[in-house]
Amino acid sequence: MDKIVSLCKRRGFIYPGSEIYGGLKGTWDYGPLGAELKFNVKQEWWKSMVRERIDVVGMSTSVLMNPKVWEASGHTAEFGDPLIECKICHERFRADQEDIIREHEKSHKGKAEWTEPKKFNLLVEAKIGVVEGEKSSTYLRGEITQGVHVNFKNILNSSRLKIPFGVAQIGKAFRNEITPGNFTYRSIEFEQMELQYYVKPDEKESMRQYEFWKNLRLDWYKSLGIKSENLRLREHKKDELAHYARAAWDIEYNSPFGWKECEGVHHRGDWDLSRHQEFSGQDMSYFDEEAKEKYIPWVIETSGGVDRAALFFLIDAYFEEKDRTVLKLHPKLAPYKAAVFPLLANKPQLVELARKIYDDLCQCPPAGGMVAWDDRGNIGKRYYSQDEIGTPFCVTVDFDSLEKGDVTVRDRDTTKQERIKISNLTSFLEEKLK
Ligand code: GAP
Repeated sequence: MDKIVSLCKRRGFIYPGSEIYGGLKGTWDYGPLGAELKFNVKQEWWKSMVRERIDVVGMSTSVLMNPKVWEASGHTAEFGDPLIECKICHERFRADQEDIIREHEKSHKGKAEWTEPKKFNLLVEAKIGVVEGEKSSTYLRGEITQGVHVNFKNILNSSRLKIPFGVAQIGKAFRNEITPGNFTYRSIEFEQMELQYYVKPDEKESMRQYEFWKNLRLDWYKSLGIKSENLRLREHKKDELAHYARAAWDIEYNSPFGWKECEGVHHRGDWDLSRHQEFSGQDMSYFDEEAKEKYIPWVIETSGGVDRAALFFLIDAYFEEKDRTVLKLHPKLAPYKAAVFPLLANKPQLVELARKIYDDLCQCPPAGGMVAWDDRGNIGKRYYSQDEIGTPFCVTVDFDSLEKGDVTVRDRDTTKQERIKISNLTSFLEEKLK
């Protein structure tokens, strides 16, 4: 992990938040390469969950909502972890994290005394308004989910969707995590990518949908390169279930800090719509034209973290091979798709041809503007520098290129080099970057 954290900072993936002021625990800023990686993760998710489906639409809802939403959703009453406090140094820990508690006791030579567990709410409070004393309180959303459910009727009335259908969203959520840590894994501010899939209130049908979405989500991580042996599904025990869940499975990743949750797939039953109907007094039911019946639909939810996905993609792609460090990121996730090098920076003909190739690649769809340029140092160093940030292909323009119209293309994963005609370069990359 230390190596990954250091690479992320050094190469511009992820920096500690507000670093020049001493930081703010549990916050992170994505640098130029991190922003691209995160964008690619979200784009692939949106493509597979919205664009390639006829039964799912997208939404983008507010971070700030009427505080009654959080009463209805159960978050003001239920959203928290039981904490215990060390009576010596007053540090607080989650009561269920035995390893961390034992570790802390060691720091007091085994003498720590603990308070009884007490529940702490994770919602982050926010004050709205300009006049001091007249400001009203609400919360930054603790999950992006509720923005979709409160709009259930708006979606029905403004579309032709029929159950079963889904609403997808990507956006920020905020939680006063008691123990932020493991780099971006547990942060106070993070991004979620979620699907709320509305189904008939029927045990068999809802479980069929549940199985479908659980497997589809697991396959998504594999399709973007995470090794199968590093992924598993784990069912929540009854006492682990969130207040809204009838059933829950986590997609877990085998990280350097243990098997950890990457995404939750939840059977939320009619919890959300029933509670919003009760608290708002608005009818949240659906009329099924075919069955001629009115009901409150049930919800199957897939809820993944963008930051966790990006972190696990990075960890899974990290390799140290002989004298190089390489990120074998899936080409769709890699920040740069290709890099172009003139063999020598002081030979204008080489630079001119390399520039032309660079400009052409920037325009072509497989690279989509994400092409790196490097003319410093020797070629070996340039390769290693691109390996470390996961660039799948490096294109070198040399003296033969001027005569024969071809270039050397070097593959990040195999390090093999081949000569490719400049006129075929775009189609070659198009094929490889699929
Ligand atoms: N709407 C359901 C929901 O929010 P969750 O299991 O609490 O369920 C879903 O969160 C996902 O959000 C998690 O699997 C994780 O990827 C991400 N997530 C949750 N808390 C996080 C945190 N503190 N830091 C980073 N990601 C987090």
